[in-house]
Amino acid sequence: MTTLPMADSSVSAPRIEIDAVSKSFDGGRSFAVSNVSFDVKQGSLVALVGGSGSGKTTLLKTINRLVEPDAGEIRIDGAPVGEAEPPMLRRSIGYVFQGIGLFPHMRVAENIAVTLRLLGWQTNDIEARVTEMLEMVDLPRDYARRFPHMLSGGQRQRVGVARAIAARPRIVLMDEPFGALDPVTRDNLGSSYRALHEKLGMTTLMVTHDIQEAALMADRIVVMKDGHILANETPHTLMRGSDDADVAALMEVPRRQAERLSALMTESRPVDA
Ligand SMILES: Nc1ncnc2c1ncn2[C@@H]1O[C@H](COP(=O)(O)OP(=O)(O)OP(=O)(O)O)[C@@H](O)[C@H]1O
Ligand SMILES: [Mg+2]
Repeated sequence: MTTLPMADSSVSAPRIEIDAVSKSFDGGRSFAVSNVSFDVKQGSLVALVGGSGSGKTTLLKTINRLVEPDAGEIRIDGAPVGEAEPPMLRRSIGYVFQGIGLFPHMRVAENIAVTLRLLGWQTNDIEARVTEMLEMVDLPRDYARRFPHMLSGGQRQRVGVARAIAARPRIVLMDEPFGALDPVTRDNLGSSYRALHEKLGMTTLMVTHDIQEAALMADRIVVMKDGHILANETPHTLMRGSDDADVAALMEVPRRQAERLSALMTESRPVDA
């Protein structure tokens, strides 16, 4: 059994290789993920987008072995995750669950510290890291003592992000991490996350329904439909158009919004009387 180390920024690309991965939940009659291959290069942030039921969450879970693929292989720095021990693998990969998934009976501080405790951190170090994480996700320090039910949906989501990155994992998987946030907080947290991603040299695969967020945050965008990959491009390339009708329609939304906003900002008209 191999285990994956927590921190080593010297390893060369690609960090995550997804190689011909398929997963069916009904004995092969239909496929949630169908022969999907792509790389997430070291230090890059890749956004995974696509309609509801297109296989995004299933694919994400095959990386930390919450779901076992029927075929294909995932490798991290060349090592097949199928050969890693699942608990060790999950400790080494930050994961933000779709729908948050905080432990309801644990206070915010305990939720954030879950992996740190499993890794055997000292109490003082845990407290310091919890405080640092609360600051990073812009929550007041005294929220550490609250239980999840005492937080708003967006606040819970921020705790979910703090928990995923508290142990400074090299790889972070995020499943719609900012969905419940208001636009200002969402933008702030997205920018803070991207800055931290750069600073710590993390490699991130992030599911989002917000194509604008994907275009602004990610180095590459992978578009899924019905378990297949429709596109794997840089935001710049995708914004310039696509031969695929679904991909073109997806990218049309932020492009039209950007054009309308730009027109609004430059248009001169009399102030309403
Ligand atoms: N445990 C499961 N058992 C049976 N079917 C499942 C299971 N998990 C997912 N599926 C099916 O696999 C397909 C892909 O689901 P998945 O959750 O990966 O989609 P998604 O792209 O994350 O969608 P959403 O954007 O709504 O979260 C869906 O048709 C779903 O019903
Ligand atoms: Mg999902």
